[in-house]
Amino acid sequence: MQKKKKNEDCFQERLWRHHDELRWLYMELYNNNDMFGELCSTMQSFYKERSASLKELDGKREKNPDWFRKNDMLGMMLYIDNFAGSLKGVKEHIDYLQSCNVNCIHLMPFLDSPKGRSDGGYAVANFRKVREDLGTMEDLQELSKECHRRDISLCMDFVMNHTSEEHEWAKRARNGEGEYMSRYFFFDNYDVPAQYEKTVPQVFPTTAPGNFTWIPEVEHHVMTTFYPYQWDLNYRNPRVFNEMMYNFLFLANQGMDVIRIDAVPYIWKELGTNCRNLPKVHSIVRMMRMISEVVCPGVILLGEVVMEPEKVTPYFGTVEKPECHMLYNVTTMATTWNSVATRDVRLLKKQMDIVNRLPKEYTFLNYLRCHDDIGWGLDYPTLKEWGMKEVPHKKFLNEYFTGRTQGSISRGELYNEDLVTGDARFCGTTASMCGIESAGFEQNPEKMEEAIAFAIMLHAYMLTQSGIPMLYSGDEIGQVNDYTYKEDSEKREDSRYIHRGKFPWKLTENIKDAKTVQGKLFPALSKLALLRKEEMVFAGEANVWTLETRNDSVLGIGRRMGEELLIAVFNFHDRTQEIGLLTEEVLVGGKFQNLITGESVDLTKPVVLEGHSFLWAKRRK
Ligand code: GLC
Repeated sequence: MQKKKKNEDCFQERLWRHHDELRWLYMELYNNNDMFGELCSTMQSFYKERSASLKELDGKREKNPDWFRKNDMLGMMLYIDNFAGSLKGVKEHIDYLQSCNVNCIHLMPFLDSPKGRSDGGYAVANFRKVREDLGTMEDLQELSKECHRRDISLCMDFVMNHTSEEHEWAKRARNGEGEYMSRYFFFDNYDVPAQYEKTVPQVFPTTAPGNFTWIPEVEHHVMTTFYPYQWDLNYRNPRVFNEMMYNFLFLANQGMDVIRIDAVPYIWKELGTNCRNLPKVHSIVRMMRMISEVVCPGVILLGEVVMEPEKVTPYFGTVEKPECHMLYNVTTMATTWNSVATRDVRLLKKQMDIVNRLPKEYTFLNYLRCHDDIGWGLDYPTLKEWGMKEVPHKKFLNEYFTGRTQGSISRGELYNEDLVTGDARFCGTTASMCGIESAGFEQNPEKMEEAIAFAIMLHAYMLTQSGIPMLYSGDEIGQVNDYTYKEDSEKREDSRYIHRGKFPWKLTENIKDAKTVQGKLFPALSKLALLRKEEMVFAGEANVWTLETRNDSVLGIGRRMGEELLIAVFNFHDRTQEIGLLTEEVLVGGKFQNLITGESVDLTKPVVLEGHSFLWAKRRK
């Protein structure tokens, strides 16, 4: 009785903390008291339904809000079916994930989604049902329990911008039911869509041109920013907002620790704008943050904002009114690959300086590759100052990475090549982009050694950045591009499937054989992850800055945590480079130790780095 009372107090106390601001934002958007009342009482029901163990975790995390910023945090994203067939299969393979030092698993979309019209699971037909071939909600809860037992957190996608055309609401809208049509954007003629088309860019210009789809059953056009079978939700309708928040809370209650809000910049539409990053998007994300802090404060919001840097950081909100806890470091990712192709780290240094100057509360999720294509969202004004123009530069990058440039070791394919604008994005795995695929094809051991060293260097660099690193499943064993998607009529058109291949379990058998690619790569990455976990200098609160290396092909990063100092340098050139690190830190720093080999290094002398190699040097005590 006592405990029950305490539990309810907890909800009320949290609700009152946020009530005024939540109500204010809600009324500003919807001016609907009844619906606000419904929202609050349904939040309370979700709180009541939340399990005791999750509530306990919430409590712990409220006391330790930096829990997800620790330097032992290492994520991995994976497709359940590719990796282990089903949710039960993932549970059976947790040991393997732990052997990769992973303690946060991002399960790629697994909710009910129509086969062949699913956009890799990003077209959800039922937010409360797991895709049948992958398992059930109970399996998800079991997986979550097992993960929590092992101190692993689970991340899933919440696709809130749209539903599948097979979602109950869409089916009823297609049937002509006004109540459901109002949950999407329907137009009985093309006048308004035509106006939208003037200002709204295209996400998939080749695979899904246009932003509207004709629905013959109701003789209306419906807004479909992504694929024609992904119908955009109308957040002007409070019913949509409330129901989607209930879906969010339902999923949080299954034991999720991180909720990735998919395509968040798109959720609010306004005629005459580009329908991206509109101010109301921020009101919605802020409300979502408060709702989760009231019902499930242990849950972290990870925003997917694939935009230019100045558009990304506003999604953190402010320190007083935070929105997302974490955001993808997308510009740094794209700029990293730009440095790979150009062998020039200047733009990367500039980009990292921007990130490093941001408040420490802003946590970025760093990654080399994810399930999506790489869009070349670079700082073109700066490149222009250096004489590079956007269109030809993108062309250069795409030719380099598809392996068409003389001497390029990378392999992969273009994505959504827009023949009108000449724009294209790129798809491929880290291993293929680093040369593991081409060296394997040529059976060239020397090139293979170089390619492996390259992949290791890039991972070391990613682990040195400030923020949380996320691996892409398969990268730890050098998984190369999978071209079989072309034989599948449902996937053929979407080259992102080139890096969404089945996990090659057979290759994991090589991990202990030092002669193999896996035997070289896996232990090396493992060592990096362990060092990152053990060395205080990798702590989330550490100061991180870039160093002057006096060599445009070598990136230098400094990290300081209390007395500890790390000087890290990464050679983005395939040839040996010499650098001079006569910075203040080094001169006063004294003796350093190579963290990988244990040898001492004298940084006051020029440092020689072989092609695509790196150095992690920690100041000796
Ligand atoms: C996100 C996903 C992408 C998907 C899109 C539409 O950008 O990462 O894979 O196609 O949303 O839902």
